[in-house]
Parts: sequence; structure tokens; C-alpha cells
Amino acid sequence: MSQTTGRLQGRTAVITGAASGIGAGTARMFVAEGANVIVADLQVEAGQALVAELGDAARFAECDVTNEDQIAAAVDMAVAEFGSLDVMFNNAGIVGIVGKISEMPVEAWDHTMSILLRGVFLGTKHAARVMSEQGSGVIISTSSTAGILGGLGPHVYTAAKHGVIGLTKSVANELAPLGIRVNAISPGNTVTAMTAAVTTGDAGDLEGTNEKIASGSPLGYAGTPDDIAAAALYLASDDARYVSGHTLVVDAGQTTAGMTPQRFNTGSSRQYNEAGRVT
Ligand SMILES: NC(=O)c1ccc[n+]([C@@H]2O[C@H](COP(=O)([O-])OP(=O)(O)OC[C@H]3O[C@@H](n4cnc5c(N)ncnc54)[C@H](O)[C@@H]3O)[C@@H](O)[C@H]2O)c1
Repeated sequence: MSQTTGRLQGRTAVITGAASGIGAGTARMFVAEGANVIVADLQVEAGQALVAELGDAARFAECDVTNEDQIAAAVDMAVAEFGSLDVMFNNAGIVGIVGKISEMPVEAWDHTMSILLRGVFLGTKHAARVMSEQGSGVIISTSSTAGILGGLGPHVYTAAKHGVIGLTKSVANELAPLGIRVNAISPGNTVTAMTAAVTTGDAGDLEGTNEKIASGSPLGYAGTPDDIAAAALYLASDDARYVSGHTLVVDAGQTTAGMTPQRFNTGSSRQYNEAGRVT
């Protein structure tokens, strides 16, 4: 982690999906930058272990992001324990159902959507409830490069992550006059349990995952939770005071090349004439 600068001194954040991966990395970075953090997650043991590591600046909220009462309670815990809610990071997620659209069970669609999109809606709704009263706050939601392009993730995941960006823009517009900024982050492949499960079949194989992601990365190295946490820190801090409705893509440049990366830009030089022939 780079040198800390106290950019979140005295602020309080709720981070969903904070027991693992990007959320855990962000909780560590936010606390190092002076924030108090509510670690909100389904995973009780891992969440409590992180809170024990972070000390007095952190509390654990057992929270399923699809459950409105539990999201509301995590938000209210921030105010009750630390006096405010300055940053809401809607980050919890799963890969969800994969497979052909023609064979997709409706229940599986609904389940994946409920975690990836309804969860972000509920976090945004309850953060807005508290932040509107305060007249300040920052809401950040985790989308994905699959929220920018098709073909980078399963159908429901892709639809939900596009939805996160749409919701971000729409709510940014409503809440700007109240002093609340709303942004999204679209990570590319990042080394976490989620990608480990997909790339190696073993959620614990972070080393193997790191190698695989690095080999496909335009920059030649893999993204880490700290890389995404640094983007969240920027958006959460006053450095981003004029930034709202934005999606910050953190993907080593992967999405600049669409789904056919390098197609026209490798090999020796060729020129096409008007007939479409190589000259
Ligand atoms: N890792 C990547 O390459 C990558 C890329 C793009 C986007 N993302 C997104 O980043 C976010 C974090 O994922 P990660 O890679 O850190 O994965 P991760 O599996 O390490 O962490 C996800 C966390 O979310 C929690 N969670 C899942 N369902 C929940 C629910 N219903 N309620 C509360 N918590 C729940 C899990 O318990 C876990 O702690 C997700 O939204 C994911 O879609 C990840």
C-alpha cells in the first residue's frame, strides 16, 4: 500500500462485501486513511476477523444486501457508532448463474439480479436517506468491465453490471443538488476469491489466479484489491469533489480494445486499397 495521507480522516464508510477481496482491501485502505468502517457481509467469521484486525475503527454488520432491513441496519449502525455516514460502497457481489440464455431458469436470473442490482439499489436508497439529511456524502458502487461491454461475463452479471452504471447516472442526477456524489467503479480482472473460483476452480488459489490474469493483462500484471481500493479512495475523498455520475474503469486498458483486442495492431504493416485488398 502506498503512503497514507489521512484523506478520509473522521469519515465513516459502510462497505458491503467487505469480508473478502476488493471490499476487504478497501476497508483496510479506508481505515489507514483515517476512516471508520462498517464491514457489512454475509460471511460472519471472515468479517469479524477483519474487524478484529482493524481495531477500534471498525464494526461488523451481518448483512445480506438483498434484505432491506439488514441494509438499513448497517447504514444506521454507521450513524449510531460513529456519528455519520459519509461513504457508502455498494460492493458485494457474486458471479451468479452462467450459461445459455435459452436455458436460463427464471429463479436463477432473479437470484443473481437481486444480489448484483437490487442490493446496489437498497444500499443507495438507505445511504441517500441518511446523506440527504446530512447534506453530504458519497455513494460508490462496484460495476465491472462486464458493465461496459458484452462478452466479458455471464448474461445476468453483464445485465446487472450495466444496470449499476445506469442507476449510478440516474441517482447522481437526483442527489447532486443535495451535495451527494454518486459514482461507480468498473474493475477488470482482479485477483480475489471470486476470480480464483472462475479461473482456477479453486477460490483459494490466488497465486495461480494472479499468474493467469497477468498473462492476459495489457499491462502484463494483474489487478489487486488495492488497485480498486485506490480508485474507491479517490472517489470517496475530496480529491473527487467535482466528480459525479462517473464510472471509473480500472482494467489495465482491457476495454479499450473491445472483444477483439489487438486485431488490427499486431504483425507487420499492411495497407488496404479501395477494393479492400492488401497492397
Ligand atoms: N474480482 C474481479 O475480477 C472483479 C471484476 C469486476 C467486478 N468485480 C466486482 O467486485 C465486487 C467484489 O468482488 P470480489 O472480486 O472482491 O469477490 P469476493 O468473492 O472476494 O468478495 C465478494 C464479497 O461479497 C460478499 N457477498 C456475496 N453476496 C452477498 C450478499 N448477498 N450480501 C452481502 N455480502 C455478499 C461475499 O461474502 C464476499 O465477502 C463484486 O461486486 C464483483 O462483481 C470483481
